[in-house]
Amino acid sequence: MYKYRLAPMCGITDHIYRTLCYEQGCETAYTEMISAMGYLCAPEQRATRELMVRGEKEPRLILQLFGKDPDIVAKAAGRISELGIYDGIDLNMGCPARKIACSGEGCGLMKEPEKAGEMIRKTVAAASLPVSVKMRIGWDSDHINAVSFARIAEEAGAKEITVHGRTREQQYSGMADWETIRAVKESVRIPVIGNGDLFNAKDTLNRMHESGTDGAMIGRGALGNPWIFREIKAAEKGLNIPTVTLEERRDMILRHYRMMLAERPAKIAVREMRKHIGWYLHGLRGISRVRDEINHCPDADSTFAVLERFFREQKQAGQPI
Ligand SMILES: Cc1cc2nc3c(=O)[nH]c(=O)nc-3n(C[C@H](O)[C@H](O)[C@H](O)COP(=O)(O)O)c2cc1C
Repeated sequence: MYKYRLAPMCGITDHIYRTLCYEQGCETAYTEMISAMGYLCAPEQRATRELMVRGEKEPRLILQLFGKDPDIVAKAAGRISELGIYDGIDLNMGCPARKIACSGEGCGLMKEPEKAGEMIRKTVAAASLPVSVKMRIGWDSDHINAVSFARIAEEAGAKEITVHGRTREQQYSGMADWETIRAVKESVRIPVIGNGDLFNAKDTLNRMHESGTDGAMIGRGALGNPWIFREIKAAEKGLNIPTVTLEERRDMILRHYRMMLAERPAKIAVREMRKHIGWYLHGLRGISRVRDEINHCPDADSTFAVLERFFREQKQAGQPI
């Protein structure tokens, strides 16, 4: 069982970041969600191709599809399986974005369980890879249908389910409802991966233990924190949780930056890295000033100079490096 997983996150979990998380102990990761229709109409389009890249050092990768038409989704899954690149196909039934959910895609499918079941059945028939489903607990607090929905997914042939313990209405607010995740786990025989608000090793292991889930998916807790996976694994073995040193943070940022520069036009790499750097520095003293400076750096070299100075100052202030 691949227990500890990096959540798919659009605009964040590209193959570079996934690789960094795998190095720290992540066991499975997913592509960002890819439109089934977009893939069928223009598989060679640059944006789609970039989303579909599997990094050379990614030991596993599940491709996530979204769409509203069962036949289109199944057809895309069939073609993608034939590429022989991925380890599974995941169907997105949890995206809350208005554009997606209100047009019957993503979490919109939780309002149409029969159609969702048809989509899963047809995808399972068309794809030569295991098919999984990522869902929420329901559309809103008056329509929590996670248990019946998960049973439909299981019956339709899904090999695994990930449950994000929030409704579509909640988006990312409030607290994830792990009681409902537990109820799902108790209602199906296929593996259930729990997701929502796992920000450290202790909470992750406690949530898994209390809910009985087979695995944990980490989203925002992994932003700027690929080390969360090594922390979970250390805690699981009863070892001391290693602290992340300043030196490790600095080296990770530089490495991430260089990997990004090797792949993307410099202008895009600089823009992309600004948000990652903000997350990497989270929790350190004096970061609002340095973040502001970095957001004004026009290129990688000037960013590196700001970072070197920042980390030197941190060291002088007594932080271990
Ligand atoms: C910026 C962002 C982008 C996301 N993109 C996707 C996506 O492409 N596919 C998907 O299934 N979920 C997506 N999610 C949801 C996450 O996978 C996850 O279910 C959610 O963040 C809850 O987990 P967390 O509390 O650990 O963050 C996204 C979440 C965020 C914050």
